Amino acid sequence: MSYSKDQPYNDLPLLPPDKSRWESIEVYKTLADARAAIAELKGRLPVIPNPLMLINTLVLQEAKDSSTIENIFTTNDELYKAFSSSASITNPATKEVLRYREALWNAFTELNNAAGFSVNTAIRIFQNLTEKDEGIRDVQVFIGSTNSVVYTPPEPGRILTEKLDNWFDVAMLQYEIDPLIKMAILHYQFEAIHPFTDGNGRTGRIMNVLYLCKEKLIDLPVIYLSKYILENKNDYYRLLREVTEKEEWTNWILYMLETVKHTAIITLEKVNTIYDSYLSVIEKVKTEAPDIYTHELIEVIFNQPYCKIAILEEKKIASRNTASKYLRRLEQLGILKSEQVGRETLYKNNILFGILSDSQ
Ligand SMILES: Nc1ncnc2c1ncn2[C@@H]1O[C@H](COP(=O)(O)OP(=O)(O)O)[C@@H](O)[C@H]1O
Ligand SMILES: [Mg+2]
Repeated sequence: MSYSKDQPYNDLPLLPPDKSRWESIEVYKTLADARAAIAELKGRLPVIPNPLMLINTLVLQEAKDSSTIENIFTTNDELYKAFSSSASITNPATKEVLRYREALWNAFTELNNAAGFSVNTAIRIFQNLTEKDEGIRDVQVFIGSTNSVVYTPPEPGRILTEKLDNWFDVAMLQYEIDPLIKMAILHYQFEAIHPFTDGNGRTGRIMNVLYLCKEKLIDLPVIYLSKYILENKNDYYRLLREVTEKEEWTNWILYMLETVKHTAIITLEKVNTIYDSYLSVIEKVKTEAPDIYTHELIEVIFNQPYCKIAILEEKKIASRNTASKYLRRLEQLGILKSEQVGRETLYKNNILFGILSDSQ
């Protein structure tokens, strides 16, 4: 049966595609660059005293960009404020982005537990993202609009389950394919299967980062693929289509390898810039306000761009009155800037905010 974008693609081939479909010198050259870039990022992370400090901020950026790909828009400022403030969040897009972060973080935590990497992992991500309690879809869906369908994934039921089982078999087994190439292949297939009624793009992109963690290419989910995809969104959609329509795997794999390479380089730069400014703030506080200096205090203001008294109390850095004094001192030093949000005062770390918002 020939492929038609309006009909369920029940003939979607099982994985893996034949190597002759993608093997080339260009793929291996780009692979080597991408591997080197991600290895450098991986190597840098343990040098940083508290890498968890980076996770919160970078994961939130990934959440924002991955959601923007799906036309869920929020601003950095709104997002970071919502994350730190206890005022109720009114913008549904901001809520959705915060759920993305939760979904990614929960799945990463489970990866380190026995639960691992299975169909249930994907289902939990989907459920966290969408707040729905359904599982794998039992209805037909399509991509595009009713008068212009772009792609129709396989029908629900036995066919869909078979493709999904094959997906996890290939993800779990050690084939002779480099994990980065496998990630690219798996991502196409996940989107082509489209196992859920919604959230397939975001779930699939979370699965990418998790897969890299599972394969130990990186130890923490700080690699930020959605930003590059967002900047090259038309290619992303076109290349997904071309795998379906022409079995054009080479260009798809090259695109995903470029995404990893570019992202690893940018993330490393961000990590270094955040770390350098963290060190310079330590120096400044040690010299100009040695009476309030502890490294816990500086870490906490680098955990999120917005900080508040309650966070210092929660982390047992200081009691309420002392915490307030510390934050005001940091404001006098020009490190923080206070802002009233509802009934709360939030203190913004302008340097960190600037680094994270940098559109580089
Ligand atoms: N032609 C295509 N073939 C396969 N997958 C596609 C195609 N076009 C887009 N996609 C994928 O579908 C995703 C959108 O699916 P959707 O379930 O709406 O996810 P989300 O709710 O996260 O937006 C895109 O992000 C992309 O990954
Ligand atoms: Mg959607």
